[in-house]
Amino acid sequence: MFFDRPDSGEISLLVNLQIDNDREADDIVEFEELVLSAGAQPVAIITGSRRQPSPSYFVGSGKLEELQAAVASHKAEVVLFNHSLSPSQERNLERELKCRVIDRTGLILDIFAQRARSYEGKLQVELAQLQHMSSRLKRGWTHLDRQKGGIGMRGAGETQLEMDQRIIAQRIKSINKALVKVRTQRDQGRRSRRRAEVPTVSLVGYTNAGKSSLFNRLTQAETYAADQLFATLDSTLRKVELPNFGQAIMADTVGFISHLPHQLVEAFRATLEETVQADLLLHVIDAAHDYHPEFIREVESVLTEIGAQEVPQLQVFNKIDLLPGREPELQRNSAGKPYRVWVSAKTGAGIETLLEAVSELLAGEMSDQLLRVAPSEAKLRSKLYAANYVENEEITDDGHYLLRVRMPLQEFDRIKMLGGVVIAVSYTHLTLPTNRE
Ligand code: GTP
Repeated sequence: MFFDRPDSGEISLLVNLQIDNDREADDIVEFEELVLSAGAQPVAIITGSRRQPSPSYFVGSGKLEELQAAVASHKAEVVLFNHSLSPSQERNLERELKCRVIDRTGLILDIFAQRARSYEGKLQVELAQLQHMSSRLKRGWTHLDRQKGGIGMRGAGETQLEMDQRIIAQRIKSINKALVKVRTQRDQGRRSRRRAEVPTVSLVGYTNAGKSSLFNRLTQAETYAADQLFATLDSTLRKVELPNFGQAIMADTVGFISHLPHQLVEAFRATLEETVQADLLLHVIDAAHDYHPEFIREVESVLTEIGAQEVPQLQVFNKIDLLPGREPELQRNSAGKPYRVWVSAKTGAGIETLLEAVSELLAGEMSDQLLRVAPSEAKLRSKLYAANYVENEEITDDGHYLLRVRMPLQEFDRIKMLGGVVIAVSYTHLTLPTNRE
């Protein structure tokens, strides 16, 4: 609707200048990753350096000519800047380059918009998009006025501009209202986390740590049929079958970004909020990156701020193929629980170990239970069998299944919540009277 966003595969020209005191443009690799994450197709990168940005075009006149030539020769549809541009710089560049120009903030917002899943995340991203756009709307119409100008145009243009601004202002107001409401609800609901039938494992970490590669590696073994169940939901959610555990949902999340434009901090946090709902976090780390200890600290502190510190976490040290002599390994903490796994998403080394550690953490404590399942719940019964939980079965006189199961406590808690379909009796509880006799 309102937003400029690069469509999948849009031919893009990238611009990254070295500007004194501009920390944003430090990392050209990260910029390229962001562009790919947004689904654009980069064809060339224009680099250079300047003491300070030019007020009218950001780049100097020589660079502008270079850009014009590059846009023409590559037939670029969009030019992406690894910098924040002022609305007037964007306008001037679009006029000279005759194609869309998107700055770093616009690019990151687009990625967030694609990745936000929760209601709050979507609202927060839309809010940031509207705010980013409202300052640019003016220029869009002044631009048009100036171009088309003349009799009959100016008035219409102004009316349209006023109308658009009013619509945006109204939308911002209603989003803010909805956000207040959703935050209150979330704070109330945080204690009693939503219990899904199938546990969720969320991958978090810095952009470029290898989350998507790992996500694909972990979920690729799945049959098409199992994938299809979730195909309609989201491309970043997939079902996996874990060894000795059963099914879980893997969720890829938006990556942390260095030098996040400050107006996007809120939107980013909101897209991450859903990780609070996960049963386990896989914190993916590029073990070959010099700054990885810093990145870990930053991720940890944001997780704490959004209230995800209580979600069990497993550190995944990725890219061991780049570390000579480093073998796949599972490290346990003093309580004997897995806390760090060394893997390579690229070669597949350590992936089996990782899956086993995930199973172990999700399973938590095992629990022996006696379940009384109504005849109408045949589906649940076959699920229990499929997960290999059933140790023994009897059929009662009234046609119920009496199942003796050994299953993860967490799983049992879920089943218990299935609104009255199952009468569960604790095994230990049942045997108590016998012991006392
Ligand atoms: P965002 O989607 O931007 O958040 O990044 P990401 O964390 O999902 O990283 P992604 O999977 O896109 O990987 C980033 C880069 O690292 C890609 O060029 C991968 O090919 C590379 N990569 C991922 N895993 C490994 C690995 O185990 N070894 C090596 N050598 N490279 C890897």
